Amino acid sequence: MQWKRRHCCTHTARRFYLLSLLGVLVFLLHQVWLPRFTGMPWWRGNPVVYGGGGGALHATRGNASSQNSGWRFVIVPRPNFQVDANVSFHEEGGPSPPGEPRFENHLIAGDLSGPLTPGPFPYIINEPDKCAGGKPAPFLVLLIATEARQVEARNAIRQTWGNESVAPDVGFIRLFLLGTNGGELGLLQQRMLEAESRRHHDVIQQDFTDSYKNLTIKTLMGMNWVGLFCPGASYVMKTDSDMFVNTEYLILKLLRPESTPKKNYFTGNNMRGFAPNRNKNSKWYMPPELYPGEKYPTFCSGTGYVFSGDLARKIYVASLSVRRLHLEDVYVGVCLARLGVEPTPPSNAFLFNHWRVSYSSCKYSHLITSHGFHPNELLKYWHHLQSNKHNACINALKTRGGRMRRMTREKSAR
Ligand SMILES: *[C@@H]1O[C@H](CO)[C@@H](O)[C@H](O)[C@H]1NC(C)=O
Ligand SMILES: *[C@@H]1O[C@H](CO)[C@@H](O)[C@H](O)[C@H]1NC(C)=O
Ligand SMILES: *[C@@H]1O[C@H](CO)[C@@H](O)[C@H](O)[C@H]1NC(C)=O
Ligand SMILES: *[C@@H]1O[C@H](CO)[C@@H](O)[C@H](O)[C@H]1NC(C)=O
Repeated sequence: MQWKRRHCCTHTARRFYLLSLLGVLVFLLHQVWLPRFTGMPWWRGNPVVYGGGGGALHATRGNASSQNSGWRFVIVPRPNFQVDANVSFHEEGGPSPPGEPRFENHLIAGDLSGPLTPGPFPYIINEPDKCAGGKPAPFLVLLIATEARQVEARNAIRQTWGNESVAPDVGFIRLFLLGTNGGELGLLQQRMLEAESRRHHDVIQQDFTDSYKNLTIKTLMGMNWVGLFCPGASYVMKTDSDMFVNTEYLILKLLRPESTPKKNYFTGNNMRGFAPNRNKNSKWYMPPELYPGEKYPTFCSGTGYVFSGDLARKIYVASLSVRRLHLEDVYVGVCLARLGVEPTPPSNAFLFNHWRVSYSSCKYSHLITSHGFHPNELLKYWHHLQSNKHNACINALKTRGGRMRRMTREKSAR
Protein backbone atom coordinates (compact mmCIF):
# COMPACT_ATOMS: atom_id res chain seq x y z
CA MET A 1 0.00 0.00 0.00
CA GLN A 2 2.83 2.31 0.94
CA TRP A 3 4.47 1.59 -2.39
CA LYS A 4 1.30 2.19 -4.32
CA ARG A 5 0.51 5.47 -2.68
CA ARG A 6 3.94 6.78 -3.23
CA HIS A 7 4.40 5.67 -6.83
CA CYS A 8 1.12 5.18 -8.58
CA CYS A 9 0.46 8.85 -8.84
CA THR A 10 3.60 9.76 -10.66
CA HIS A 11 2.85 10.19 -14.33
CA THR A 12 4.87 7.23 -15.72
CA ALA A 13 3.72 4.82 -13.05
CA ARG A 14 0.10 5.65 -13.71
CA ARG A 15 0.58 5.13 -17.41
CA PHE A 16 2.27 1.80 -16.73
CA TYR A 17 -0.54 0.77 -14.41
CA LEU A 18 -3.20 1.56 -17.01
CA LEU A 19 -1.27 -0.25 -19.70
CA SER A 20 -0.99 -3.43 -17.68
CA LEU A 21 -4.68 -3.23 -16.85
CA LEU A 22 -5.39 -3.02 -20.58
CA GLY A 23 -3.10 -6.01 -21.14
CA VAL A 24 -5.04 -8.10 -18.65
CA LEU A 25 -8.29 -7.10 -20.34
CA VAL A 26 -7.00 -8.06 -23.78
CA PHE A 27 -5.77 -11.36 -22.38
CA LEU A 28 -9.15 -12.13 -20.84
CA LEU A 29 -10.96 -11.16 -24.01
CA HIS A 30 -8.76 -13.28 -26.25
CA GLN A 31 -8.24 -16.29 -24.03
CA VAL A 32 -11.42 -16.55 -22.02
CA TRP A 33 -14.36 -14.67 -23.41
CA LEU A 34 -13.81 -15.11 -27.14
CA PRO A 35 -13.02 -18.82 -27.00
CA ARG A 36 -16.02 -19.38 -24.77
CA PHE A 37 -18.15 -17.63 -27.31
CA THR A 38 -16.81 -19.73 -30.15
CA GLY A 39 -17.03 -22.96 -28.22
CA MET A 40 -13.30 -23.45 -27.88
CA PRO A 41 -12.00 -24.21 -24.39
CA TRP A 42 -9.87 -21.33 -23.21
CA TRP A 43 -7.03 -23.49 -21.93
CA ARG A 44 -6.43 -24.84 -25.42
CA GLY A 45 -3.85 -22.42 -26.70
CA ASN A 46 -3.26 -24.49 -29.83
CA PRO A 47 -5.11 -24.10 -33.08
CA VAL A 48 -7.33 -27.03 -33.84
CA VAL A 49 -5.89 -27.35 -37.31
CA TYR A 50 -4.60 -30.87 -37.81
CA GLY A 51 -0.82 -30.75 -37.86
CA GLY A 52 -0.81 -26.96 -37.59
CA GLY A 53 2.36 -24.99 -37.03
CA GLY A 54 6.01 -25.95 -36.98
CA GLY A 55 5.96 -29.60 -37.86
CA ALA A 56 5.11 -31.18 -34.57
CA LEU A 57 1.70 -32.70 -34.35
CA HIS A 58 -0.48 -30.28 -32.52
CA ALA A 59 -3.01 -31.67 -30.21
CA THR A 60 -4.69 -30.80 -26.97
CA ARG A 61 -1.65 -31.81 -24.97
CA GLY A 62 1.84 -32.66 -25.92
CA ASN A 63 5.48 -31.95 -25.67
CA ALA A 64 5.20 -28.34 -24.72
CA SER A 65 8.72 -27.48 -25.84
CA SER A 66 8.07 -28.76 -29.34
CA GLN A 67 4.99 -26.63 -29.76
CA ASN A 68 5.60 -23.11 -30.87
CA SER A 69 2.81 -21.81 -28.70
CA GLY A 70 3.27 -18.06 -28.35
CA TRP A 71 0.61 -15.56 -29.31
CA ARG A 72 -1.25 -16.87 -32.21
CA PHE A 73 -4.72 -16.43 -33.48
CA VAL A 74 -6.74 -19.49 -32.92
CA ILE A 75 -8.69 -20.90 -35.81
CA VAL A 76 -11.92 -22.22 -34.45
CA PRO A 77 -14.71 -24.13 -36.07
CA ARG A 78 -18.14 -22.58 -36.06
CA PRO A 79 -20.05 -23.48 -32.92
CA ASN A 80 -21.91 -26.77 -33.24
CA PHE A 81 -20.41 -27.31 -36.65
CA GLN A 82 -21.44 -30.66 -38.06
CA VAL A 83 -19.22 -32.76 -40.24
CA ASP A 84 -20.41 -31.99 -43.71
CA ALA A 85 -21.43 -35.40 -44.91
CA ASN A 86 -22.17 -34.14 -48.40
CA VAL A 87 -18.73 -32.88 -49.15
CA SER A 88 -16.54 -35.34 -47.36
CA PHE A 89 -18.00 -38.53 -48.71
CA HIS A 90 -17.30 -38.21 -52.37
CA GLU A 91 -17.70 -41.30 -54.39
CA GLU A 92 -14.56 -42.21 -56.21
CA GLY A 93 -15.09 -41.32 -59.85
CA GLY A 94 -18.29 -39.38 -59.36
CA PRO A 95 -21.81 -40.66 -58.91
CA SER A 96 -22.32 -44.38 -59.18
CA PRO A 97 -23.69 -45.75 -62.45
CA PRO A 98 -27.41 -46.55 -62.59
CA GLY A 99 -28.29 -49.86 -61.01
CA GLU A 100 -25.45 -49.77 -58.50
CA PRO A 101 -26.31 -49.14 -54.88
CA ARG A 102 -25.75 -45.56 -53.75
CA PHE A 103 -24.31 -45.03 -50.36
CA GLU A 104 -26.25 -42.49 -48.44
CA ASN A 105 -25.40 -41.52 -44.91
CA HIS A 106 -24.49 -44.81 -43.32
CA LEU A 107 -23.70 -48.14 -44.81
CA ILE A 108 -26.30 -50.77 -44.21
CA ALA A 109 -25.43 -54.25 -42.95
CA GLY A 110 -26.02 -55.86 -46.34
CA ASP A 111 -23.31 -53.77 -47.98
CA LEU A 112 -20.77 -55.23 -45.60
CA SER A 113 -21.30 -58.94 -46.05
CA GLY A 114 -20.35 -59.45 -49.69
CA PRO A 115 -17.16 -61.24 -50.75
CA LEU A 116 -13.90 -59.41 -50.16
CA THR A 117 -11.06 -59.27 -52.68
CA PRO A 118 -7.45 -58.36 -51.93
CA GLY A 119 -7.96 -54.98 -53.58
CA PRO A 120 -6.29 -53.24 -56.49
CA PHE A 121 -2.68 -54.16 -55.69
CA PRO A 122 -1.44 -57.77 -55.87
CA TYR A 123 0.43 -59.34 -52.95
CA ILE A 124 4.16 -59.80 -53.36
CA ILE A 125 4.61 -61.29 -49.91
CA ASN A 126 1.67 -62.70 -48.00
CA GLU A 127 0.99 -64.87 -44.98
CA PRO A 128 -2.46 -66.24 -45.81
CA ASP A 129 -2.20 -69.06 -43.26
CA LYS A 130 -0.84 -67.05 -40.38
CA CYS A 131 -4.21 -67.05 -38.72
CA ALA A 132 -5.73 -70.26 -40.07
CA GLY A 133 -4.53 -73.84 -39.69
CA GLY A 134 -6.79 -75.07 -36.91
CA LYS A 135 -5.50 -72.60 -34.33
CA PRO A 136 -8.07 -70.53 -32.48
CA ALA A 137 -8.40 -67.06 -33.95
CA PRO A 138 -5.89 -64.67 -32.38
CA PHE A 139 -7.01 -62.24 -29.73
CA LEU A 140 -4.98 -59.41 -31.20
CA VAL A 141 -3.46 -58.67 -34.59
CA LEU A 142 -0.73 -56.03 -34.62
CA LEU A 143 -0.47 -54.21 -37.95
CA ILE A 144 2.78 -52.27 -38.05
CA ALA A 145 3.44 -49.85 -40.90
CA THR A 146 7.12 -49.97 -41.85
CA GLU A 147 9.48 -49.45 -44.78
CA ALA A 148 11.92 -51.95 -46.24
CA ARG A 149 14.98 -50.12 -44.95
CA GLN A 150 13.79 -50.19 -41.32
CA VAL A 151 15.27 -53.63 -40.63
CA GLU A 152 16.61 -52.65 -37.21
CA ALA A 153 13.26 -51.28 -36.09
CA ARG A 154 11.51 -54.50 -37.10
CA ASN A 155 14.05 -56.60 -35.26
CA ALA A 156 13.73 -54.46 -32.14
CA ILE A 157 9.93 -54.82 -32.24
CA ARG A 158 10.24 -58.61 -32.66
CA GLN A 159 12.34 -58.73 -29.52
CA THR A 160 10.20 -56.35 -27.49
CA TRP A 161 6.55 -55.36 -27.70
CA GLY A 162 5.86 -57.42 -30.83
CA ASN A 163 7.15 -60.65 -29.30
CA GLU A 164 4.25 -63.10 -29.07
CA SER A 165 5.60 -64.35 -25.76
CA VAL A 166 4.47 -61.08 -24.12
CA ALA A 167 1.06 -62.69 -23.75
CA PRO A 168 1.61 -66.36 -24.53
CA ASP A 169 -1.80 -67.64 -23.44
CA VAL A 170 -3.78 -65.07 -25.36
CA GLY A 171 -2.44 -65.37 -28.87
CA PHE A 172 -1.45 -62.36 -30.82
CA ILE A 173 0.15 -62.05 -34.17
CA ARG A 174 2.31 -59.35 -35.65
CA LEU A 175 2.43 -58.25 -39.25
CA PHE A 176 4.64 -55.64 -40.84
CA LEU A 177 2.99 -53.77 -43.70
CA LEU A 178 5.04 -52.72 -46.72
CA GLY A 179 4.79 -51.40 -50.24
CA THR A 180 7.56 -51.53 -52.84
CA ASN A 181 10.56 -49.39 -53.72
CA GLY A 182 11.96 -48.91 -57.19
CA GLY A 183 15.57 -48.72 -58.36
CA GLU A 184 18.65 -50.81 -57.65
CA LEU A 185 18.42 -50.14 -53.93
CA GLY A 186 14.79 -51.15 -53.99
CA LEU A 187 15.70 -54.49 -55.57
CA LEU A 188 18.39 -55.14 -53.02
CA GLN A 189 16.04 -54.25 -50.17
CA GLN A 190 13.45 -56.55 -51.67
CA ARG A 191 15.87 -59.53 -51.59
CA MET A 192 16.64 -58.83 -47.95
CA LEU A 193 13.00 -58.36 -47.08
CA GLU A 194 12.13 -61.69 -48.66
CA ALA A 195 14.81 -63.41 -46.61
CA GLU A 196 13.49 -61.69 -43.48
CA SER A 197 10.01 -62.83 -44.32
CA ARG A 198 11.11 -66.45 -44.79
CA ARG A 199 12.72 -66.31 -41.37
CA HIS A 200 9.98 -64.61 -39.36
CA HIS A 201 6.80 -65.01 -41.43
CA ASP A 202 5.50 -61.64 -40.29
CA VAL A 203 5.63 -59.51 -43.45
CA ILE A 204 2.91 -58.67 -45.91
CA GLN A 205 3.63 -56.57 -48.95
CA GLN A 206 1.63 -55.39 -51.91
CA ASP A 207 2.76 -53.85 -55.15
CA PHE A 208 2.22 -50.14 -54.54
CA THR A 209 4.85 -47.43 -54.16
CA ASP A 210 5.92 -47.22 -50.54
CA SER A 211 5.62 -43.53 -49.69
CA TYR A 212 4.22 -41.33 -46.95
CA LYS A 213 1.39 -40.30 -49.24
CA ASN A 214 0.50 -43.95 -49.80
CA LEU A 215 0.16 -44.75 -46.12
CA THR A 216 -3.60 -44.98 -46.52
CA ILE A 217 -3.17 -47.76 -49.09
CA LYS A 218 -0.87 -49.55 -46.65
CA THR A 219 -3.35 -49.34 -43.79
CA LEU A 220 -6.18 -50.52 -46.03
CA MET A 221 -4.04 -53.48 -47.07
CA GLY A 222 -3.82 -54.42 -43.39
CA MET A 223 -7.55 -53.99 -42.79
CA ASN A 224 -8.27 -56.04 -45.89
CA TRP A 225 -5.86 -58.78 -44.74
CA VAL A 226 -7.66 -59.12 -41.41
CA GLY A 227 -11.04 -59.18 -43.18
CA LEU A 228 -9.89 -61.83 -45.65
CA PHE A 229 -7.47 -64.03 -43.75
CA CYS A 230 -8.24 -63.44 -40.09
CA PRO A 231 -11.90 -62.45 -39.72
CA GLY A 232 -12.17 -64.10 -36.31
CA ALA A 233 -9.56 -61.88 -34.63
CA SER A 234 -11.01 -60.16 -31.56
CA TYR A 235 -8.98 -56.97 -31.83
CA VAL A 236 -6.58 -55.23 -34.17
CA MET A 237 -4.05 -52.52 -33.50
CA LYS A 238 -2.51 -50.40 -36.22
CA THR A 239 0.72 -48.68 -35.27
CA ASP A 240 4.12 -47.56 -36.61
CA SER A 241 7.63 -48.93 -36.33
CA ASP A 242 9.01 -46.02 -34.26
CA MET A 243 6.55 -46.61 -31.46
CA PHE A 244 6.76 -47.99 -27.98
CA VAL A 245 3.66 -50.11 -27.42
CA ASN A 246 2.92 -51.65 -24.07
CA THR A 247 1.23 -54.73 -25.53
CA GLU A 248 0.90 -56.37 -22.14
CA TYR A 249 -1.05 -53.46 -20.70
CA LEU A 250 -3.08 -53.18 -23.90
CA ILE A 251 -4.09 -56.83 -23.81
CA LEU A 252 -4.56 -57.39 -20.10
CA LYS A 253 -5.86 -54.03 -18.91
CA LEU A 254 -7.64 -52.44 -21.86
CA LEU A 255 -8.93 -55.30 -23.99
CA ARG A 256 -9.23 -57.96 -21.26
CA PRO A 257 -9.25 -61.42 -22.86
CA GLU A 258 -11.62 -62.71 -20.17
CA SER A 259 -14.46 -60.43 -21.26
CA THR A 260 -16.68 -60.77 -24.33
CA PRO A 261 -14.96 -59.12 -27.32
CA LYS A 262 -16.53 -55.80 -28.25
CA LYS A 263 -18.00 -54.95 -31.64
CA ASN A 264 -17.83 -51.65 -33.50
CA TYR A 265 -15.22 -50.54 -31.04
CA PHE A 266 -12.47 -48.11 -32.00
CA THR A 267 -10.15 -46.26 -29.65
CA GLY A 268 -6.85 -44.43 -29.51
CA ASN A 269 -5.72 -40.85 -29.13
CA ASN A 270 -8.99 -39.20 -30.03
CA MET A 271 -8.62 -36.14 -32.23
CA ARG A 272 -11.89 -34.35 -31.93
CA GLY A 273 -12.84 -31.13 -33.71
CA PHE A 274 -9.72 -30.80 -35.85
CA ALA A 275 -9.85 -28.73 -39.01
CA PRO A 276 -8.01 -29.52 -42.26
CA ASN A 277 -4.61 -27.88 -42.58
CA ARG A 278 -4.71 -25.50 -45.53
CA ASN A 279 -1.08 -24.48 -45.38
CA LYS A 280 0.45 -25.79 -48.60
CA ASN A 281 3.89 -26.24 -47.03
CA SER A 282 2.66 -28.48 -44.28
CA LYS A 283 3.11 -32.22 -44.21
CA TRP A 284 -0.56 -32.36 -43.20
CA TYR A 285 -1.82 -30.11 -46.00
CA MET A 286 -5.25 -31.07 -47.20
CA PRO A 287 -6.31 -29.58 -50.53
CA PRO A 288 -9.85 -28.17 -50.38
CA GLU A 289 -10.62 -30.02 -53.63
CA LEU A 290 -9.95 -33.29 -51.83
CA TYR A 291 -11.67 -32.45 -48.57
CA PRO A 292 -13.79 -29.32 -48.78
CA GLY A 293 -15.29 -29.76 -45.31
CA GLU A 294 -14.26 -27.36 -42.54
CA LYS A 295 -13.87 -30.03 -39.93
CA TYR A 296 -12.72 -33.62 -39.78
CA PRO A 297 -14.82 -36.22 -38.06
CA THR A 298 -13.30 -37.57 -34.83
CA PHE A 299 -10.33 -39.71 -35.72
CA CYS A 300 -7.53 -41.39 -33.77
CA SER A 301 -3.88 -40.54 -34.26
CA GLY A 302 -2.30 -42.98 -36.70
CA THR A 303 0.59 -43.58 -34.30
CA GLY A 304 -1.56 -46.20 -32.62
CA TYR A 305 -5.23 -47.08 -32.63
CA VAL A 306 -7.06 -50.18 -31.58
CA PHE A 307 -10.33 -51.58 -32.88
CA SER A 308 -12.52 -54.64 -32.72
CA GLY A 309 -11.84 -57.27 -35.40
CA ASP A 310 -15.22 -56.85 -37.07
CA LEU A 311 -14.34 -53.28 -38.01
CA ALA A 312 -11.37 -54.29 -40.17
CA ARG A 313 -13.65 -55.57 -42.87
CA LYS A 314 -16.23 -52.84 -42.38
CA ILE A 315 -13.67 -50.06 -42.68
CA TYR A 316 -12.23 -51.65 -45.79
CA VAL A 317 -15.65 -51.98 -47.41
CA ALA A 318 -16.54 -48.41 -46.43
CA SER A 319 -13.28 -47.24 -48.00
CA LEU A 320 -14.46 -48.51 -51.38
CA SER A 321 -16.94 -45.68 -51.51
CA VAL A 322 -15.01 -42.97 -49.70
CA ARG A 323 -12.66 -40.82 -51.71
CA ARG A 324 -9.06 -41.62 -50.78
CA LEU A 325 -7.22 -39.10 -48.58
CA HIS A 326 -3.47 -39.40 -48.03
CA LEU A 327 -3.72 -38.73 -44.28
CA GLU A 328 -4.48 -42.26 -43.21
CA ASP A 329 -5.73 -41.53 -39.71
CA VAL A 330 -8.09 -38.84 -40.96
CA TYR A 331 -9.21 -41.18 -43.72
CA VAL A 332 -9.99 -44.01 -41.34
CA GLY A 333 -11.94 -41.47 -39.28
CA VAL A 334 -13.99 -40.53 -42.33
CA CYS A 335 -14.69 -44.21 -43.02
CA LEU A 336 -15.79 -44.64 -39.39
CA ALA A 337 -18.11 -41.66 -39.66
CA ARG A 338 -19.51 -43.25 -42.77
CA LEU A 339 -20.13 -46.42 -40.78
CA GLY A 340 -21.70 -44.42 -37.98
CA VAL A 341 -19.02 -45.55 -35.51
CA GLU A 342 -17.76 -42.93 -33.06
CA PRO A 343 -14.30 -43.62 -31.60
CA THR A 344 -14.39 -44.34 -27.88
CA PRO A 345 -12.29 -41.92 -25.83
CA PRO A 346 -9.68 -43.80 -23.79
CA SER A 347 -10.38 -44.17 -20.08
CA ASN A 348 -7.56 -41.77 -19.32
CA ALA A 349 -5.74 -39.22 -21.41
CA PHE A 350 -2.32 -40.74 -20.80
CA LEU A 351 -2.87 -44.11 -22.47
CA PHE A 352 -2.27 -43.25 -26.13
CA ASN A 353 0.48 -40.69 -26.67
CA HIS A 354 1.46 -39.54 -30.13
CA TRP A 355 4.41 -37.71 -28.67
CA ARG A 356 7.23 -39.06 -26.65
CA VAL A 357 6.58 -39.46 -22.96
CA SER A 358 9.77 -39.15 -20.91
CA TYR A 359 10.65 -42.59 -19.64
CA SER A 360 9.97 -43.89 -16.19
CA SER A 361 9.06 -47.49 -15.46
CA CYS A 362 6.03 -46.27 -13.50
CA LYS A 363 4.65 -44.19 -16.37
CA TYR A 364 5.50 -46.77 -19.01
CA SER A 365 3.82 -49.59 -17.14
CA HIS A 366 0.54 -47.62 -17.34
CA LEU A 367 0.50 -46.35 -20.88
CA ILE A 368 -0.13 -48.00 -24.22
CA THR A 369 1.75 -45.90 -26.77
CA SER A 370 4.65 -43.45 -26.80
CA HIS A 371 6.12 -42.09 -30.00
CA GLY A 372 9.56 -41.53 -31.50
CA PHE A 373 11.95 -44.35 -30.56
CA HIS A 374 15.21 -45.40 -32.06
CA PRO A 375 15.45 -49.23 -32.08
CA ASN A 376 18.25 -49.13 -29.49
CA GLU A 377 16.19 -47.02 -27.13
CA LEU A 378 13.27 -49.36 -27.56
CA LEU A 379 15.41 -52.31 -26.51
CA LYS A 380 16.87 -50.41 -23.57
CA TYR A 381 13.58 -49.14 -22.17
CA TRP A 382 11.74 -52.37 -22.82
CA HIS A 383 14.27 -54.42 -20.88
CA HIS A 384 14.28 -51.89 -18.07
CA LEU A 385 10.51 -52.03 -17.91
CA GLN A 386 10.48 -55.84 -17.89
CA SER A 387 12.77 -56.04 -14.90
CA ASN A 388 10.99 -53.25 -13.02
CA LYS A 389 7.35 -53.53 -13.96
CA HIS A 390 6.22 -55.34 -10.82
CA ASN A 391 7.39 -52.65 -8.48
CA ALA A 392 7.55 -49.82 -11.02
CA CYS A 393 5.34 -47.45 -9.08
CA ILE A 394 6.17 -48.68 -5.61
CA ASN A 395 9.70 -47.42 -6.17
CA ALA A 396 8.37 -44.13 -7.47
CA LEU A 397 6.09 -43.84 -4.44
CA LYS A 398 8.97 -44.65 -2.13
CA THR A 399 11.07 -41.81 -3.47
CA ARG A 400 8.10 -39.49 -3.35
CA GLY A 401 7.23 -40.76 0.14
CA GLY A 402 10.80 -40.18 1.23
CA ARG A 403 10.69 -36.63 -0.08
CA MET A 404 7.39 -36.02 1.73
CA ARG A 405 8.78 -37.36 4.99
CA ARG A 406 11.86 -35.19 4.62
CA MET A 407 9.68 -32.16 3.99
CA THR A 408 7.54 -32.90 7.03
CA ARG A 409 10.66 -33.32 9.12
CA GLU A 410 12.05 -30.02 7.88
CA LYS A 411 8.76 -28.30 8.58
CA SER A 412 8.51 -29.61 12.13
CA ALA A 413 12.15 -28.71 12.71
CA ARG A 414 11.34 -25.09 11.86
C1 LIG B 1 -26.58 -32.14 -48.46
O1 LIG B 1 -27.18 -32.07 -49.73
C2 LIG B 1 -28.56 -31.97 -49.71
C3 LIG B 1 -29.07 -32.04 -51.15
O2 LIG B 1 -28.11 -31.68 -52.07
C4 LIG B 1 -28.97 -30.66 -49.01
O3 LIG B 1 -30.38 -30.55 -48.95
C5 LIG B 1 -28.40 -30.68 -47.60
O4 LIG B 1 -28.68 -29.47 -46.96
C6 LIG B 1 -26.90 -30.91 -47.65
N1 LIG B 1 -26.39 -31.09 -46.31
C7 LIG B 1 -25.37 -30.38 -45.84
C8 LIG B 1 -24.96 -30.69 -44.47
O5 LIG B 1 -24.80 -29.54 -46.52
C1 LIG C 1 10.63 -63.53 -27.70
O1 LIG C 1 10.72 -63.75 -26.31
C2 LIG C 1 11.14 -65.05 -25.96
C3 LIG C 1 11.01 -65.20 -24.45
O2 LIG C 1 11.51 -64.08 -23.79
C4 LIG C 1 12.55 -65.25 -26.46
O3 LIG C 1 12.99 -66.55 -26.15
C5 LIG C 1 12.57 -65.06 -27.97
O4 LIG C 1 13.88 -65.13 -28.44
C6 LIG C 1 11.98 -63.70 -28.35
N1 LIG C 1 11.90 -63.60 -29.78
C7 LIG C 1 12.67 -62.76 -30.47
C8 LIG C 1 12.45 -62.72 -31.94
O5 LIG C 1 13.48 -62.04 -29.93
C1 LIG D 1 1.07 -44.69 -54.62
O1 LIG D 1 1.18 -45.95 -55.22
C2 LIG D 1 0.74 -46.02 -56.55
C3 LIG D 1 0.82 -47.46 -57.01
O2 LIG D 1 2.13 -47.92 -56.96
C4 LIG D 1 1.57 -45.10 -57.42
O3 LIG D 1 1.07 -45.10 -58.74
C5 LIG D 1 1.50 -43.69 -56.86
O4 LIG D 1 2.38 -42.85 -57.57
C6 LIG D 1 1.87 -43.68 -55.40
N1 LIG D 1 1.64 -42.36 -54.90
C7 LIG D 1 2.55 -41.69 -54.23
C8 LIG D 1 2.18 -40.32 -53.84
O5 LIG D 1 3.63 -42.14 -53.91
C1 LIG E 1 10.25 -32.34 -26.41
O1 LIG E 1 10.72 -31.92 -27.67
C2 LIG E 1 12.05 -31.47 -27.69
C3 LIG E 1 12.34 -30.92 -29.06
O2 LIG E 1 11.59 -31.54 -30.05
C4 LIG E 1 12.95 -32.63 -27.29
O3 LIG E 1 14.30 -32.19 -27.28
C5 LIG E 1 12.56 -33.13 -25.91
O4 LIG E 1 13.34 -34.26 -25.57
C6 LIG E 1 11.09 -33.50 -25.88
N1 LIG E 1 10.70 -33.84 -24.54
C7 LIG E 1 10.06 -34.95 -24.23
C8 LIG E 1 9.68 -35.12 -22.82
O5 LIG E 1 9.78 -35.80 -25.08
